[in-house]
Amino acid sequence: MLSTMIVAITLALTRGLEVLCKATVFNQIAMLEESNSTLLQYPTQFTQNIVPKQIHSHNDYWRDVPLLEALSFGVASVEADVWYINGTLHIGHELGALTAARTLDSLYIQPLVNILAGQNPVNAFTTNLTGPPNGVFDMSGTTSLQLLICMKTDGNITLAPVLQALEPLRQINALTTFDNGTLSVSAITAVGTGNTPLEGIQALSPRDLFLDAPLTDLDDPDVTYDVNLSPLASTDYEPAVGWSGIGNISDAQLANITKFVNDAHTRGIKARFWDTPGWPIQARHAVWEVLLNAGADWLNVDDLEAASQF
Ligand SMILES: *[C@@H]1O[C@H](CO)[C@@H](O)[C@H](O)[C@H]1NC(C)=O
Ligand SMILES: *[C@@H]1O[C@H](CO)[C@@H](O)[C@H](O)[C@H]1NC(C)=O
Ligand SMILES: *[C@@H]1O[C@H](CO)[C@@H](O)[C@H](O)[C@H]1NC(C)=O
Ligand SMILES: *[C@@H]1O[C@H](CO)[C@@H](O)[C@H](O)[C@H]1NC(C)=O
Ligand SMILES: *[C@@H]1O[C@H](CO)[C@@H](O)[C@H](O)[C@H]1NC(C)=O
Ligand SMILES: *[C@@H]1O[C@H](CO)[C@@H](O)[C@H](O)[C@H]1NC(C)=O
Ligand SMILES: *[C@@H]1O[C@H](CO)[C@@H](O)[C@H](O)[C@H]1NC(C)=O
Repeated sequence: MLSTMIVAITLALTRGLEVLCKATVFNQIAMLEESNSTLLQYPTQFTQNIVPKQIHSHNDYWRDVPLLEALSFGVASVEADVWYINGTLHIGHELGALTAARTLDSLYIQPLVNILAGQNPVNAFTTNLTGPPNGVFDMSGTTSLQLLICMKTDGNITLAPVLQALEPLRQINALTTFDNGTLSVSAITAVGTGNTPLEGIQALSPRDLFLDAPLTDLDDPDVTYDVNLSPLASTDYEPAVGWSGIGNISDAQLANITKFVNDAHTRGIKARFWDTPGWPIQARHAVWEVLLNAGADWLNVDDLEAASQF
C-alpha cells in the first residue's frame, strides 16, 4: 500500500521534472516566472495588461477591497459616498455602516496617491517628461479615472472638506482641472454628486471638482451644462426609461434613452443611467445592451466581473 503510493509519487515527480526539462516555450516561461527575473519587471506594471472599460463601480466601497478590485477589472469610474461628521469624511452607504477608519482619505485618496507614484517613476528616463502624470492604467496612461464623490451630508457644508481632501492629488497635478477657459484632463477626474451644490461647483476657479449633471434636465434654461462643469450627467433609470429588460422595449422608452444620451453628447457630456435592473441576469444584460447601443457611456454596475466580461 505504502510502496504503491511511493511509486506513484515518484512517478509523478519524475514526470514533473521531465516536463520542466523539455525545451518548450511554455517551460521557458514557467522557469522565467519562477526565477523572479528583473527582466520581467518594470516600474508601471501595477495594472499590467488591464484594459480600461467604461464601467462605473456603483457604491465601490461595498467591494471586498474598494478601489483596487475595480482597477483589477479595468473599471474606470468608482463611487464613494461621503459623510462629513466631526471634521472627517467617512465612507459608507448609511450612518450604520460608518467606521472611524474608513474615510475618503484612507480608502481612496492615499491609495490613489501611492498608485500614481508607482505609475510615474522619477528616474533618468522620465526627467524630460512634461504634461499630466500617467493615470492608473498602465495600458492607457491618458485614461482618467473618474472618482465620483456622492455627498450624503449637507452639500454646502461638505464641499470645502471634500476640496481639502483632494489636496494630495492636486499637489501632484493629478486632477482634471478647468482653469481660465481651458480644460486639462489628468489622471483623476473628481465629480461630485448627491448633495453636491451646483452653485458651489460653478463658483470654483480653478475647478477640479465637477458636477454630476441631471441627465433628464440638461436643457434647464437657468444652467449652462457643459463638459467644463459636468463631464458626467446621470439619471435614475426607472423614471427615465423604466423598461424591465423583459419583452420588447417600447418606442417611447427607447426614444427617451436616445434623447437623453443625445442631450448629453451635444454638450460633450457622458451619460450614465443608474439603478438599472439587476435581476434576472438576462434582463440586466438586455438593458445594458440597449443602453450601450443607444450610446450611453457608462455602465453603472455592482457586479464588476460580469460587466467587465460583457
Ligand atoms: C522579486 O524581485 C523583486 C525585486 O526585483 C523583489 O522586490 C521581490 O521581493 C522578489 N520576489 C520574490 C518572491 O523573490
Ligand atoms: C463627535 O464629537 C463629539 C464631541 O467630541 C463626540 O461626543 C461624538 O462621539 C463624536 N462622534 C463621532 C461619530 O465621532
Ligand atoms: C533629456 O533632455 C536632455 C537635454 O536635451 C538630453 O540630453 C537627454 O538625453 C534627455 N533624456 C531623455 C531620457 O530623453
Ligand atoms: C447652499 O448655498 C446656496 C448659496 O450659495 C443656496 O442657494 C442653497 O440654498 C444652499 N443649499 C442648502 C441645502 O442649504
Ligand atoms: C487666460 O486666458 C486668456 C485668453 O485665453 C489669456 O489672455 C490670459 O493670459 C490667461 N490668464 C492667465 C492667468 O493664464
Ligand atoms: C421619458 O422621460 C420623461 C422625463 O424624464 C418622463 O416623464 C417619461 O415618463 C419618460 N417616458 C418613458 C416612456 O419612460
Ligand atoms: C418584439 O420585437 C420583435 C422584433 O422586432 C418582434 O418580432 C416581436 O413580435 C415583438 N414582440 C412583441 C411581443 O411585440
